[in-house]
Amino acid sequence: MENLSGIIRGIHHVTAGVEGAQEDVDFFTTIVGQRLVKQTVLMDGDLPIYHFYYGNRKAEIGTIMTSFPFKQSGVYGRRGSGQISVTGFTVPEGSLDFWKNRFEQKNVEHGEVEERFGQKRLSFFHPCGLGFELVEDPNDNREPCVSEDISEEYAVKGFHSVTMSIREVEEQLRFFTGPLGFRLTGQDGPYYQLEINEGGAAKTVNFKHEPDLPQGSWINGAGIVHHVAFAVADDEEMNKVRHFIEGLGYTDISEIKDRHYFHSCYVRSPGGVLCEFSTSDIGLGIDESIEDLGSTLLLPPWKLDEKEEIFNYLEPVVNPQVQKINK
Ligand SMILES: [Fe+2]
Repeated sequence: MENLSGIIRGIHHVTAGVEGAQEDVDFFTTIVGQRLVKQTVLMDGDLPIYHFYYGNRKAEIGTIMTSFPFKQSGVYGRRGSGQISVTGFTVPEGSLDFWKNRFEQKNVEHGEVEERFGQKRLSFFHPCGLGFELVEDPNDNREPCVSEDISEEYAVKGFHSVTMSIREVEEQLRFFTGPLGFRLTGQDGPYYQLEINEGGAAKTVNFKHEPDLPQGSWINGAGIVHHVAFAVADDEEMNKVRHFIEGLGYTDISEIKDRHYFHSCYVRSPGGVLCEFSTSDIGLGIDESIEDLGSTLLLPPWKLDEKEEIFNYLEPVVNPQVQKINK
């Protein structure tokens, strides 16, 4: 096996720490227009922390943004290099004027429309400071996240890419174009564009070379992206990824962890960004129907003993898409 390009399918999910739980739910559902497709909790650690998943109607891999609201526990990250600084979503061609007006009307901090690597893009910010961008992509045929006030001609479809802030690009480039099997498909000033397999939406990773930006923290805390996960099919492929990467000397690659909705392992990339590999054969439909996704707080089997304590501790959250309190 020369590299993992036949095994890694693209972005599986992106996970960030945010501040308030309700603020986060409101941002992704009423501003971005994604569907809240799972309410669960952080599966490691003793302190209950929500874990929210947002995606398209069917919660397809490559559309799933996940968040841990850390305001209640007071854990904060420090933004900097060695992190994902921008998470990109695709939108239809010609839709950025709609989004700019929408951000203005809804007081969402945003930038101006820019063009890079032949695609128009508009940056915007989560209330806790996380950076996002919308990228016009006429080739993305995934089901759009339509909502009450976002029609199909404007709606977000899923991930376009992540942008990693990197102090020293060379070794990070070697990791992505070597074992992972990405191709360098563009360079524009400090920006590098890498794509895997057929490229395009959810198969693109960007680096921004920021040699003078101090390193951000690696903790799981509010205000920073914790990791990007790449999709593999199943445990068999996950094991191939683990052994291949470990064999190259990245011996810190983790054991396979049970995340209930998928299995995962993690490795710290040379540029500092935590990368996860996640299986695609379980999915969010394991404990609720497609129609009910995200409507109520669900726990993995090994947390059910603590159900009362967890439900009592966590602040109540209203899912505006179902107008229902989760407890
Ligand atoms: Fe993850």
